[in-house]
Amino acid sequence: MTEQTPVTLDTAKPVPTLPDAQTVTQVKHYTDRLFSFRVTRPASLRFRSGEFVMIGLMGDPHPETGKQKPLLRAYSIASPSWDEELEFYSIKVPDGPLTSRLQHIQPGDEIILRPKPVGTLVHDALLPGKRLYFFATGTGFAPFASLLREPETYENYDEVIITHTCRDVDELTYSRELIENLKSDEMMLELLGQENLDKIRYYPTTTREQSPKMGRITTLIENGELFVDLGVPPLDPATDRAMVCGSLAFNHDIKALLEKAGLHEGANSDPGQFVIEKAFVG
Ligand code: A2P
Repeated sequence: MTEQTPVTLDTAKPVPTLPDAQTVTQVKHYTDRLFSFRVTRPASLRFRSGEFVMIGLMGDPHPETGKQKPLLRAYSIASPSWDEELEFYSIKVPDGPLTSRLQHIQPGDEIILRPKPVGTLVHDALLPGKRLYFFATGTGFAPFASLLREPETYENYDEVIITHTCRDVDELTYSRELIENLKSDEMMLELLGQENLDKIRYYPTTTREQSPKMGRITTLIENGELFVDLGVPPLDPATDRAMVCGSLAFNHDIKALLEKAGLHEGANSDPGQFVIEKAFVG
């Protein structure tokens, strides 16, 4: 008698135990403050690159009733709209109600994902131009990770300039690797084309640890260093467009600089010269 090898069906999926459950497929930790993860994508979910969804975990049981409520936060989708999975880039806040637990997820675990994408960092809200700036701090890079992998990003512009400012060098790893991979990946070359990949200009800066380029991007705009380094003219509403994603204070400060340069904020219903989204934490 020969022993039979047990057969496992590749297609077998775990039965969802959470409302709107999706399964974690990959987790990558960058620093003790930052990680990214990928989850399965609901078949019905359509979104525009740059949008966000609410994701989370079940909260702790209520001390008296024992009832559990979902603990949800807004997260920009970091993967492009054509990707079969969804990617997210997150901070780990030690005492953050969600991220203190979310940082421990493993492949195979489930998270909650409400499939209702929204957001302002979309091409529909911007007028065509010559140069498109993506200004990001910290995890505010996430929506740009999506947009940089989207062919539409390159259609209306000659240059796509991505600035990413973090406290330390290691916190730039996610954006640096993503852009390096974008430029060396055969599939991305085929999808975006060499001409479009050549439009990408990456400008990373740090504020607390020594690196080749130091300083807040707001300072580098104000003193003109950004434009001298890139060899481009200062911000001009006739040619320049911007998408901004970072902390509240950062968004506030850069908005003032963009408006001072004569750029007007756009919306889905009324496209303009820049759009802003808060990078969500918790
Ligand atoms: P800084 O180190 O000078 O505070 P965080 O990790 O706190 O979210 O910050 C991410 C990056 O954004 C840091 O390099 C930080 O610089 C920078 N930053 C914070 N607030 C502002 C602001 N109002 N304008 C420009 N950059 C800012």
